[in-house]
Amino acid sequence: MSVTLGLLFFSFTAIFSLFSFLIFVLRLKPWCNCEVCRSFLTSSWTSEFGNLCDWYTHLLRKSPTGTIHVHVLGNTITANPENVEYMLKTRFENYPKGKPFSMILGDLLGRGIFNVDGDSWRFQRKTASLELGSTSVRSYAFEIIKTEIKSRLIPLLASVSGKKEQEGGVLDLQDVLRRFSFDNICKFSFGLDPGGLRLSLPMSEFAAAFDLASKLSAERATSASPLIWKVKRLLGIGSERKLRESVKMVDNLAAEMIRSRREKGFSDRQDLLSRFMASVDDDRYLRDIVVSFLLAGRDTVSSALTSFFYLISQHPEVEQKIREESDRVMGSGSDEVPDFGEMGEMHYLHAAIHESMRLYPPVQFDSKFCQEDDVLPDGALVRKGTRVTFHPYAMGRMEQIWGPDCLEFKPERWFKNGVFAPVCLFKYPVFQAGRRICLGREMAVMEMKSVAHTLIKRFNIRVFGPHQEPRFAAGLTATVRGGLPVRIQERS
Ligand code: HEM
Repeated sequence: MSVTLGLLFFSFTAIFSLFSFLIFVLRLKPWCNCEVCRSFLTSSWTSEFGNLCDWYTHLLRKSPTGTIHVHVLGNTITANPENVEYMLKTRFENYPKGKPFSMILGDLLGRGIFNVDGDSWRFQRKTASLELGSTSVRSYAFEIIKTEIKSRLIPLLASVSGKKEQEGGVLDLQDVLRRFSFDNICKFSFGLDPGGLRLSLPMSEFAAAFDLASKLSAERATSASPLIWKVKRLLGIGSERKLRESVKMVDNLAAEMIRSRREKGFSDRQDLLSRFMASVDDDRYLRDIVVSFLLAGRDTVSSALTSFFYLISQHPEVEQKIREESDRVMGSGSDEVPDFGEMGEMHYLHAAIHESMRLYPPVQFDSKFCQEDDVLPDGALVRKGTRVTFHPYAMGRMEQIWGPDCLEFKPERWFKNGVFAPVCLFKYPVFQAGRRICLGREMAVMEMKSVAHTLIKRFNIRVFGPHQEPRFAAGLTATVRGGLPVRIQERS
């Protein structure tokens, strides 16, 4: 009986999936036989490129307008700064995140800032920018980061310094940085310390559930048709069942934290949850707000730092200049975490960090959904309901924007008259730009500068094994497949 039911169930799912796939395909252009679509459908691009983002970069660099269409996906992809400004500022209302995106992340993020448009977004943006912009929040975040660096990150790296591979001297720096940034963002958002940097312990239940939920949510975007994951969700099977379980665990833990904070009182606490509690009564909404912050501040920072150390390992001349600048600002030999004033004087470090995110942005591409038929400034026609993607990874590698040396890691390119000079944000939308620009960018840069400076002053960190270009795993933020194995040597 149960076998018959199982078969019935399976056939139903298979037929429904096939049907939904057909509908999806018919809405697009399955007959498109252009070179790009052919290469996409047959995956022939993989014979030349290790990452999809590298193939798109190649196509965008070749395109005279800096825009391409992947017809079979109904996706217009652009690396043209004028188009980016048009989408993110000039015609912002015509390019919302849209329903397809909010459905994909809806179970995990609910009505959190990342996942909404319109009034709900405006309310959260206003409240969050008041909080994140305040000096007291910045100092609170800085103290958390400083403590985590001094009491956990440095001792951990020092404990493997100089050891051989067989003695445990090779560390996955990406994993360490992910644990580090999860600890920081949890302390900042909830006032909770998951203690993730204690490598002897398994990842906390919360971190593991959060990880799985974000990974499975991101995978929804890769299914051939949204109807496939929707049916699996309806039936509670496969990856959708796992997603439901991991989201439930995130929900339970978040609810527990909110409940205990209410019980113990929140008016004298500084974490983001306590601050939002002062103006929001609805516990579900509070959970959504804080979970969005976890997602925003976790993998982005660790991804940016992982690429930074990957590049520094190949560029000892940049490392040397960072040390020289630090000696000038803080006095030679100091390996303290710089304070705000000292950090502000470190223009070269600031440039090196921006330069590494130019080549390896943590969010490699970002999509919006067009509300009404439109024509982009470069003449590209976009149809209502189709996806328009801007591509910071490709934009960092465009000769038209950065000149013929665009593929080189050169912090000096950010200098004008001896000081760091920012570029137009629509040419460098690493933190997005326009009306939805990242609210945590100053905090993120402060965190990155604190870590980069302190580790570079104290250690030589070198990638272990033969040089290879990073291969990225599919996900919401750039993660290097297989991690970043490094050897660490404490400087005398
Ligand atoms: C290197 C680190 C970071 C990078 C590269 C980054 C990048 C981005 C990007 C690309 C977006 C736009 C996403 C979208 O709407 O599609 C964004 C939004 C956002 N980020 Fe960040 N982010 C970083 C760190 C942080 C941190 C540490 C926080 C908070 C503590 C944060 C808070 C936010 C928030 C709240 C939004 C939503 C803004 C809105 O929708 O109005 N970010 N970030």
